[in-house]
Amino acid sequence: MPFEQHTQSLIERVESTLDAWLPAEKSQPESLHQAMRYAVFNGGKRIRPLLSYASADLLELDHAKVDAIAATIELIHCYSLVHDDLPAMDDDDLRRGKPTVHKAFDEATAILCGDALHTLAFCGLAQSGISSTSIAYLAQACGSEGMAGGQALDLQFESTRPGKAEIEHMFSLKTGALLTASVMLPAIEHRASDDPMLVQLQRFAESVGLAFQIIDDLLDVEGTSEQIGKPAGSDAELEKASWPILFGVEAARQRAQELVDIAASSLNQLGGNTEGLKWLAERILRRNF
Ligand code: IPE
Ligand code: IPE
Ligand code: MG
Ligand code: MG
Ligand code: MG
Repeated sequence: MPFEQHTQSLIERVESTLDAWLPAEKSQPESLHQAMRYAVFNGGKRIRPLLSYASADLLELDHAKVDAIAATIELIHCYSLVHDDLPAMDDDDLRRGKPTVHKAFDEATAILCGDALHTLAFCGLAQSGISSTSIAYLAQACGSEGMAGGQALDLQFESTRPGKAEIEHMFSLKTGALLTASVMLPAIEHRASDDPMLVQLQRFAESVGLAFQIIDDLLDVEGTSEQIGKPAGSDAELEKASWPILFGVEAARQRAQELVDIAASSLNQLGGNTEGLKWLAERILRRNF
C-alpha cells in the first residue's frame, strides 16, 4: 500500500503514544497539564513522526520499534513551538489555528509547559530502552549546537542581512537538526555507526530540513493566517532573516526545489523502500500550510 494511505494511521499511532505519555489534565498541577495537552493535541501535521516511520520502512523495522522516537521528537517540536511563540521570541498569538499557549494560559505556564514537554520527551525515550548513544545524539540536536543554538541565531539575525550560507546555517540548526534526528535516530539505533547508508540518509535529511524552513518562510510571505494557522507576515514584521524576504520568492522556491532534488538523489543511491521518505520530501515542498 502506498505510504500516503498509511499516514492517517501513523498519525493516530504517534498520537496514542503521546496520549499515553502525557499526564491527565485533571492531575495536579492542572493548568500545566492542560497546557501541555493543549500544545500537543492541536492539529500539528506530525511531519517529524511520519519521517521516523518512513525511515523505519527503509530500515525494515517494525513501526513499534520507532514509536518512542516518533513521540519524543514530536514532544520536543511542540515544546519548541510554545517557546518560539513567546513574547520574548516571535511574540505570536496564533498557532495551529488556535491562540498560542501563552495567550490561552499565561506566559509562566507557557515557559513551564515547554520545559515539561522537553523533559517528558527524554523521559519517554529513556524508558523505551533506547541506547545512550541515541539519547545523546538527540540531546545534541536540541541544544546550543542544534535547535536552541539556531533559535539564538534567528533572534540575533533580526534586522540584519546575513548571506545565504549564514541563513542556511541558522536554518540547519533551528529546524534541520530536529528534522534530521527524526530520520536518523531509527538508523543510529538500529544500524552500525559505520554503515555507509547513514551518509546518504543524513544528506537526504539535511536537505529536506533546509527545504522545510525555506517553505515555512515562503508560506509566511504568501499564505494567509487562516491557511497556515499562524500569523502570516510575522517574519516581515519582526525583520527576520527570511529566505524569500532577503533573496526573493522565486529564488526561494527554486532553492527549495533544488534541495528536494538533492534529497531525492540521495535516496536513489540507497535502494530499498524509500517510498515514504520520497513522498514526504515532495509533500514538504508542495505543502500549503
Ligand atoms: C513549524 O513546524 C516550525 C518550523 C520548524 C518551521 P511545522 O510546520 O511542522 O508545524 P506543525 O507541527 O505542523 O504545526
Ligand atoms: C521555528 O521557526 C523554528 C523552531 C520552532 C525551532 P519559525 O519561527 O519560522 O516557526 P513558525 O513560523 O513560528 O512556526
Ligand atoms: Mg522563530
Ligand atoms: Mg515563529
Ligand atoms: Mg516561520
